[in-house]
Amino acid sequence: MAEPAPGARERGAGVTALVGAGAVVLGPAEPGPLRRATWDQLRVTAGVGVGCEGGRVALIAPDREVRAWYREQVHGRASAHPHAFAELIECEGRLITPGLVDPHTHALFGAPRLDDQARRARGDDYKSIAAAGGGILQSMRDFRARGEDELVALGAARLQWVTALGTTTVEVKSGYGLAPEAELRALRAIARLAAAGPPTVVATFLGAHEVPPEHRAKREAWVRILVEELIPRVGRERLAEFCDVFCEPGVFSLEESETVLRAARAAGMGLKVHADELDPYGGAELAARLGATSADHLGAISPAGVEALAASDTVAVILPGTLVFLGKARHAPARALVDAGAVVALASDFNPGSSPSASVPLMMALAVGQAHLQPAEAFAAATVNAACALARGAEGGRLAAGRPADLVAWNCRDPRELAYWYGMPLAWRVFAGGFACHGPERVVSSAGSGLKPLSPPLS
Ligand code: NIG
Ligand code: FE
Repeated sequence: MAEPAPGARERGAGVTALVGAGAVVLGPAEPGPLRRATWDQLRVTAGVGVGCEGGRVALIAPDREVRAWYREQVHGRASAHPHAFAELIECEGRLITPGLVDPHTHALFGAPRLDDQARRARGDDYKSIAAAGGGILQSMRDFRARGEDELVALGAARLQWVTALGTTTVEVKSGYGLAPEAELRALRAIARLAAAGPPTVVATFLGAHEVPPEHRAKREAWVRILVEELIPRVGRERLAEFCDVFCEPGVFSLEESETVLRAARAAGMGLKVHADELDPYGGAELAARLGATSADHLGAISPAGVEALAASDTVAVILPGTLVFLGKARHAPARALVDAGAVVALASDFNPGSSPSASVPLMMALAVGQAHLQPAEAFAAATVNAACALARGAEGGRLAAGRPADLVAWNCRDPRELAYWYGMPLAWRVFAGGFACHGPERVVSSAGSGLKPLSPPLS
């Protein structure tokens, strides 16, 4: 798998018009998150089309105006400087929405962990899987053995999956290197993927994913390396926008997590917390107290944690796929979080151990079916609120003139269907920054290379 060509985003500098949609979800008029979202706030409109130019949405207007605008772009005075490409897409009643936003992934990894899954089916738990050589440390050993170019190629193939599923902005964490050089290699690889996008890639430093084996006897040494060496360097070199920590008994304590997060804030990064995933430990309260951008997982959050998030702007990111894949019967109390007034977002947690899926629509279906969200709430959680979980709340995750042309035409008509046809191939055409990155039979490259078949990720 070759590295994606640099500057793919600039190749969005053409004209695309989508007309004939059955419905368009325009997103809230006000900037910022939706608490207790309804379809009214999201504004589902019929009879309008979308015109995109130079990577941005130029107009959202009645179909006939969009057709006239397109003709003018291609044949009229506006065509004096010919566009790199021009395409008028008849959507034949399909649904158009903003591109989905996935605010929590570990998408840069090497091999899948197939043995973990087989062991879990035999009844092994997290600890016994780790003791048998599986778990995060297996991914760490595998990751450390791979060079930066190889990681970029693997990441690029996996990001093709991400866009093919309708996601146009994705967060990617480091955290499988767990040694200074390997963590920096991860962040450099993520930066190369971001430069080559689409999709838009947001980098998070997760050096505090686990204590590496060489520091197990003296764990404070790894926390010191993170706080005194790596975090300041990552901040200085702007290698990550966010810093995350796996705050869980037996991984990083509340105190260690706070130390890491305070260092990250001092280094200019936004804060995220893997909080209360397995135990009601107080990670959500810590995230709210520190003003973190998001608290993620929350499978075991306490009532006090729900209250703390509801009273804050910290986004509660729920990852229902992880608990399903791990065979857990319980879910994050998404209903209680929404009812209490928290900002709730959804994410895939795409990773080789606990969630080998990058499908946000699948997570929407699980959020409705397992965690009792309404479809409108799941939609807001995968768009506007997910953008808030990446500090892009002012305009992210919504379709509006002047915004980047991140949008999806889906193989369905009603927005509720996104959370209904679970695991089905729903995305018909996907545009990120105006660049067509997924289509029914081909990926269109405006650079003139013609067909670019989708290839499965390597392992
Ligand atoms: O978010 N909780 C920690 N990290 C991941 C699992 C990563 C792995 O198992 O490789 C998670 O579920
Ligand atoms: Fe995670």
